[in-house]
Amino acid sequence: MIDGKKVLFSGMQATGNLTLGNYLGALKNWLTLSDEYECFYSVVDEHSITVRQDPAELRRRARNLLTLYIAAGLDPKKNCIYYQSHVSAHAELAWILNCYTYMGELNRMTQFKDKAAKHADNINAGLFTYPVLMAADILLYQADVVPVGIDQMQHLELTRNLAERFNNIYGNVFTVPEAYIGKVGAKIASLQDPSKKMSKSDENVNGSIYLMDDPDTIMRKCKRAVTDCEAHICYRDEQPGLKNLINIYSACTGKTPEETVLEFEGRGYGEFKIAVGEAVISVLKPLQDEFARLSKDKAYIDSIIKENAEKANYYANKTLRKVQKKVGFPERIR
Ligand code: TRP
Repeated sequence: MIDGKKVLFSGMQATGNLTLGNYLGALKNWLTLSDEYECFYSVVDEHSITVRQDPAELRRRARNLLTLYIAAGLDPKKNCIYYQSHVSAHAELAWILNCYTYMGELNRMTQFKDKAAKHADNINAGLFTYPVLMAADILLYQADVVPVGIDQMQHLELTRNLAERFNNIYGNVFTVPEAYIGKVGAKIASLQDPSKKMSKSDENVNGSIYLMDDPDTIMRKCKRAVTDCEAHICYRDEQPGLKNLINIYSACTGKTPEETVLEFEGRGYGEFKIAVGEAVISVLKPLQDEFARLSKDKAYIDSIIKENAEKANYYANKTLRKVQKKVGFPERIR
């Protein structure tokens, strides 16, 4: 608890360009949470180097992501938006937790297996202990809730196990976090293969609408979206491509899927796809404009980075000092 509020923690990697799926499924919903929770949103740049990165590019992307959080409407005075690498407690707690994590547990992580297969030439120890750093992220802030996608549930479960294991040995040190199940955001699928989720790492760029796509590109991708040959607008699993477009249109306009179907009943797919494109453009254009404006204001963004790093360090170090004492590190002499 911080100031009577429960704590929420989440992190995003600055690798790949964020998609409309990230926005409608996650970021947009984060905006409503800061009244109820004390929120920490980290740009997890330390996780990013588990695969090889170009340094200048990583720095640029990390700053863009942080700026984008703010452009999307997260108030940086109410939400702690910061770089993981600016808070050394993350790495320090991760080391300690590594010593309480079993090889067998990490061997079971499906994301490790997937990434090891994908980066067979660089299966480094950091990739293996990635989930432990993630546990440190969450436990440092004594987070009560963590909004994560289904792909991160296994890591969250490990985090809970580590917290309980530690608490069993040393008393109540960590809050055991829960997955945040709130109003779930819209699940957006690839425009080219509606059986897959829209992903920032998809090799087919036509499957994803990126937050920084220009209006022509957005319209072109919507027009090319895979649909079916039923030529009849309805909302059902047998027409997954169309269903996905209805979800996108509904999420962008605030309508329900049923209202959307009524609105376009009897009209052609071509016409509907144009309406989807226009709806997406009208959501992304203001976001892009705000991003462009903020990106030019270097002094403002720098001040946010500095202030929020201080805030994050304050809370993180409080937990870290407690943990260091518990495991038997000597007291600091002041
Ligand atoms: N591993 C997460 C992902 O790839 C990102 C992440 C790092 C995270 N630390 C976190 C998410 C802590 C939630 C909480 O999506």
